[in-house]
Amino acid sequence: MSIHIGAQPGDIAETVLLPGDPYRARWAAETFLDEPRLVNEVRGMLGYTGAWRGHPVTVHGTGMGMPSLSIYVNELIKDFGARTLIRIGSCGGMAPQVALRDIVIAMTASSISTPSRGIMRELNFAPAADWGLLRAAVAAAEARGTAVHVGGIYSGDTFYDERPDLMEQLVRHGTLAVEMEAAELYTLAARHGCRALAVVTVSDHLTTGEELPAADRERSFGEMVEIALEAAFSH
Ligand code: HPA
Repeated sequence: MSIHIGAQPGDIAETVLLPGDPYRARWAAETFLDEPRLVNEVRGMLGYTGAWRGHPVTVHGTGMGMPSLSIYVNELIKDFGARTLIRIGSCGGMAPQVALRDIVIAMTASSISTPSRGIMRELNFAPAADWGLLRAAVAAAEARGTAVHVGGIYSGDTFYDERPDLMEQLVRHGTLAVEMEAAELYTLAARHGCRALAVVTVSDHLTTGEELPAADRERSFGEMVEIALEAAFSH
């Protein structure tokens, strides 16, 4: 057990899918894994371990935002031996070519701050996806005939953003989407020699103001989960 994860040693797989929402962790585990079992519920942050095509997989919620993700990812890596960590979540579309329900695979994640900022000091570290996972996720999407966007996203600290100027610069520089976790996930994976990727589905769009109806989310989110699983076990 670690401070925030009540699992026993061996309860967590080396491959972990990381939705922000704990209920989405339950849904993904029950939908895609064989024999999923609850391995954590401390503070209502649900984690399940089961098998996908015979491979052990854990699906664990991270909560919203980088400080919350940092707690779970630190413990998953350092206390439970997680080695491949794939965020599956929602994002706000930013670029004009990105539409509702589209899947975005994050090559890089820009930010104005992350929980790691304190140790980076003047260094503008560039959080980047693991190349092997990124390549495998794109190949998996292509094999399924699913169009995905691949490029830079923005990991913000606020959902209710008050910096229209910053959003303008991000769009101007080709940023595809905004969410709140990938930059710290990529930084922690780099620090600990792990593989990380973020595969996110567009649930709303910043410039058009469109939002995905709640009922629609599951179906589009399912494709993202399958792409993540196929990428994790592609070799
Ligand atoms: N902003 C930040 N995070 C998000 C958004 C958004 O618009 N949509 C889904 N996650």
